[in-house]
Amino acid sequence: MTRAITTGLATRTDLLLTGISQLVTAEGAPARRGQRMGELRVIPDAALAISAGRVQWVGPARDWLPVGGAPARELDLGGAAVVPGLIDPHTHTVWAGDRLADFEARAAKTSYEEILRAGGGIRSTIRSTSAEMPRELARLAAPRIGALLRSGATTIEVKSGYGGSTVAELTMLEAISLLSAEQRAHHGARLLATLLIHLPPPARSSTRPSAPPPESRSRQQFLARVCGELIPAAARRSLASAVDVFVEREAWTVAEAERIFATARSCGLAVKLHSDQFHSIGGVTLAVRAGALSVDHLEAADEEEIRALAHSQTIATLLPGVSLHLGLPAAPGRRLIDAGAAVAVGTDLNPGSSPLFSTAAALGLAVRMNGLTLQEALVAGTVNAACALGLSDRGRLEPGCIADFLVLHSSDWRDLVYVMGANPVAAVWIQGRRWKDDTRRASTSEHVGISSDEPQAETVR
Ligand code: NIG
Ligand code: FE
Repeated sequence: MTRAITTGLATRTDLLLTGISQLVTAEGAPARRGQRMGELRVIPDAALAISAGRVQWVGPARDWLPVGGAPARELDLGGAAVVPGLIDPHTHTVWAGDRLADFEARAAKTSYEEILRAGGGIRSTIRSTSAEMPRELARLAAPRIGALLRSGATTIEVKSGYGGSTVAELTMLEAISLLSAEQRAHHGARLLATLLIHLPPPARSSTRPSAPPPESRSRQQFLARVCGELIPAAARRSLASAVDVFVEREAWTVAEAERIFATARSCGLAVKLHSDQFHSIGGVTLAVRAGALSVDHLEAADEEEIRALAHSQTIATLLPGVSLHLGLPAAPGRRLIDAGAAVAVGTDLNPGSSPLFSTAAALGLAVRMNGLTLQEALVAGTVNAACALGLSDRGRLEPGCIADFLVLHSSDWRDLVYVMGANPVAAVWIQGRRWKDDTRRASTSEHVGISSDEPQAETVR
């Protein structure tokens, strides 16, 4: 018999949701690792009680007993499946300009790394983004947040990293703060800002405008400003909760990332890494040693790194949109889980390596490309993604947790990861209230914006 759970509190129920064909959730706060990533609680014919924006009770509808009097409101969902709100633990949603020329060049077989070495790619987005003010950056990003939300993301991490100087990185963080306030005002997604130390400065006079070598003066000066000004200012102004570093041949070395991490920690910020996207140069070992919240990408991770992650508290975050868009080998999701690691999945929404505007679709890609089971994908996009952001109050539907959940177009939760090219999410609920979708559709850049009164074709079945 299916178990019912209650807080035992005699507070009045604000809302009772019934007519739920299946309510699906992971149970328990810590990250799920290894085999336990496949364990989900599936409650057929369920009910969900909400009080003060939190889950009050969840269980089979027949077991519901009113606490503190009859619910203030009841809603029959008509046989839809319900899952926890998704958590997107890795996005670069704030940018200006576009990378359509890069896409065209890559289609003609120029690689992402070649474009970057020639001064394009991320560097071209740094040029366009650093020219904008916070309000404009927030305006450009708002429909992208709307798209992620519509696809089921109720908590979204947003990184800076296209600033390239202290002032421009702080401008990006201010834009994220504006977006976050706007979301709060419209009862939308919760945003978490991360300061990303993305690339060293470009070499000044060279035929090859990639990053100067680590011992160069300009690079040392840039790093000194990151540690002496940028990180302390972001922490002092509470503009970010974590610092991320891109460790890669064309970006930062392990030793440099270690120095950035030491500063971040001394300022009370959590740390995380972009690592092993193209080459394995020691980022995973550093992440584990430093107790990073997560290490993200991992397309090039080897067996030793997989073992190290499996024996650590650091979450391995997979970004399958990147593998799809850049044609990279998929990160070893199956091997990570089989070794005992805790895996999360995110969109990595950004203009260059992952123009993926759907968090639900990222989970579907993780099944198809990284070898996750359907159950593991849901855990990776909910409870484990919450842990990758250091959060334990969401990502599952249990008494006391924030009542963020999705009502699907389907009576079977598996449609969340099955459907491609249409939105499996019928309604997004945040803190026990239905999100009112009044944002524009996402566009990669302004010139393709579509107005909000465009009809939305969302029915799946
Ligand atoms: O997560 N790897 C580096 N940073 C981003 C890419 C950003 C871009 O191409 O603009 C990433 O893939
Ligand atoms: Fe990224």
